[in-house]
Amino acid sequence: MAVELAVAELRADEMAENVFQHPPHLPLIAPSILAADFAKLGSEAADVEKAGADLLHVDIMDGHFVPNLTMGPDVVEGLSRSCNLMMDVHLMVSNPAEHFESFSKAGGKHFTFHIEVAPNGAAVDLIKRIHDLGCTAGVSLKPKTPVSALGALMGLADLILVMSVEPGFTGQAFMPEMLEKVRFLRHELGPHQRLEIDGGIGIRTAHQALEAGADVLVAGAAIFRNPQRCETIKLLRGDYPK
Ligand code: DX5
Ligand code: ZN
Repeated sequence: MAVELAVAELRADEMAENVFQHPPHLPLIAPSILAADFAKLGSEAADVEKAGADLLHVDIMDGHFVPNLTMGPDVVEGLSRSCNLMMDVHLMVSNPAEHFESFSKAGGKHFTFHIEVAPNGAAVDLIKRIHDLGCTAGVSLKPKTPVSALGALMGLADLILVMSVEPGFTGQAFMPEMLEKVRFLRHELGPHQRLEIDGGIGIRTAHQALEAGADVLVAGAAIFRNPQRCETIKLLRGDYPK
């Protein structure tokens, strides 16, 4: 019995290997659990895993950096037990450093923080702290923040996240002017660095983002508010001939 349990745990660990470092394919599709039915979060996570998602995007909001409150580490721990998808933790909080350890213990394997809360080189220290926990580090830009704000971080982060809506809520309209940022960043980033886009991604905007060079697509409403989740994930990935 104990051996069976150990094998099951090992398998879960292998499955949760960091897909940003070792992507099985590109693009990666990251359903945002923020758009799920919160009355059944565990089964929603398991359902998108079955439907072909590559990771689970988890939006953490503190009611200060953005005007909304979402989940804490206990919820993320429950999600980690509900599926084998890697937890891609998007911290929309004013003090991200306070939260790395607790969310990492809860199963977070990747943390993206916002450049707007880490000026003057503080971001370099945040990336180091995330790496010290054995996780990958991402840096995000709100729509009004120019890519020039990234400076040297462009070469240090494992992932850059371009927000294509104002952060805070699911179901908002995509801002097409953000594609310019994606094009520029794809040119600047190395092949091992992921370029994620988040906000208003549906079938049409997914294809625009992929053409511009994004390789990780976050999608909330497009996946969770649609009963055809498997089909939708394939379409977002561009698996069907256009
Ligand atoms: C917004 C969040 C997003 C959001 C995406 O602040 O960061 O991850 O859940 O939802 P959709 O895809 O519905 O815009
Ligand atoms: Zn997000």
